[in-house]
Amino acid sequence: MTPVQSSNPLPWHLLPDNSEVSADGRLLIGGCDTLELAAEFGTPLFVYDEDHLRARCREAVDAFGSHATYASKAFLCKAMARLAFEEGMGIDVASGGEMHVCLSAGIPAEKLVLHGNNKSMSELALARQAGVGRIVVDSDDELDRLESLHTADGLVPDVLLRITPGIKAETHEFVATGQDDSKFGFTVSTGAAKAAVDRAQESPAVNLVGIHAHIGSQVFRVDSFSAAVAVLAEFANPLGLPELVVGGGLGVPYVEGEEAPSISQWATIIRTAAAETGITAQIGIEPGRSIAAAAAVTLYTVGTVKQLPGIRTYVAVDGGMSDNPRPVLYGSGYEAFLPRAVTAERTDRVRIVGKHCESGDLLIREASVPADLVVGDIVATPVTGAYGHSMGSNYNKILRPPVVFCSGGDARLVVRRETFEDLLTTDLG
Ligand SMILES: Cc1ncc(COP(=O)(O)O)c(C=O)c1O
Repeated sequence: MTPVQSSNPLPWHLLPDNSEVSADGRLLIGGCDTLELAAEFGTPLFVYDEDHLRARCREAVDAFGSHATYASKAFLCKAMARLAFEEGMGIDVASGGEMHVCLSAGIPAEKLVLHGNNKSMSELALARQAGVGRIVVDSDDELDRLESLHTADGLVPDVLLRITPGIKAETHEFVATGQDDSKFGFTVSTGAAKAAVDRAQESPAVNLVGIHAHIGSQVFRVDSFSAAVAVLAEFANPLGLPELVVGGGLGVPYVEGEEAPSISQWATIIRTAAAETGITAQIGIEPGRSIAAAAAVTLYTVGTVKQLPGIRTYVAVDGGMSDNPRPVLYGSGYEAFLPRAVTAERTDRVRIVGKHCESGDLLIREASVPADLVVGDIVATPVTGAYGHSMGSNYNKILRPPVVFCSGGDARLVVRRETFEDLLTTDLG
């Protein structure tokens, strides 16, 4: 995705819902002055608009009730798990670690849905013992594991079977999951999905309640979802199972010129396709990115500006691929702006890079920024609320940034900045 080259101010719709400009041109999120947040909590800093998160959760719940499940891989901490739960969502966890965070946050186990294409024996055992609401079974090997656990303790979890519908969603290949050539799920076209249904229905170790599919992430084209629902209907309707989960994947705009359906519009597309294809099962959805992405901006401090006449200008910030690996992983585009002048024209073209020891450590390949950007400025990237903090790392032993939730003028620190001591907690010397 190539960012649009433009001198326009930052497109307002890329900012969280509750964003305002102060009388002197500064950005407020949830009533909190972003420059004051940077001064108080340091940078890099993830600033979330809490009411934006809540509103998106409610939009999903309005459409699908308790069958709207938040995909916590997008962004997870205890406060986020509680927020999604308080707004009526279930929570999709894709590992023992995500499950542990949710259980530690006090989320009832029955509100959790366990995913993963290679769940370990211990993850499955933990899920069954805790009583998670649904396990989404991904393979015959996993059914083997569930059967051997059942032999030991007799527990029978409710499960969905993840199927691969053979839909190629138009998105980056790393996040396309619905095509036949996929590591996920039971393939419909080969007959593996039908065989898995037969096996699960006969197995004493599981109670098969439905079918699940997820075609990919950052999908803008609504006909990809309609096509997936049609394939799902053909497969699932004859089975007469009570539940059908169509996954997440709704795309969000990251850069100028991009647009995406809202969660409500997406829900209508799914409902319409379900009605047209005679689906009577209870439909569920699993949005992650569309809940969390636009809720946050990341604040950085500019540390160096390196001008290479005739080549380019590098603006280096105090984070990088460790707090946002998406540009490096997928070539994803972002916008940049100065929170001290959020409506300013962005007439200069620079490359915004991080502080890691890699030439590939870039945040924005071709960023438009105001011409008066200087060392010491706070620079921000919007739409960093999903797959940023959650995909972060400690590369170069950079400390993971803190997260603040802002609402009504109050800033609540929900994840503190890591310390050097944290870096040594698992190091036995
Ligand atoms: C099974 C499953 N459900 C839901 C999601 C959430 O997708 P998104 O964040 O694009 O809505 C994912 C993301 O990879 C997924 O794998």
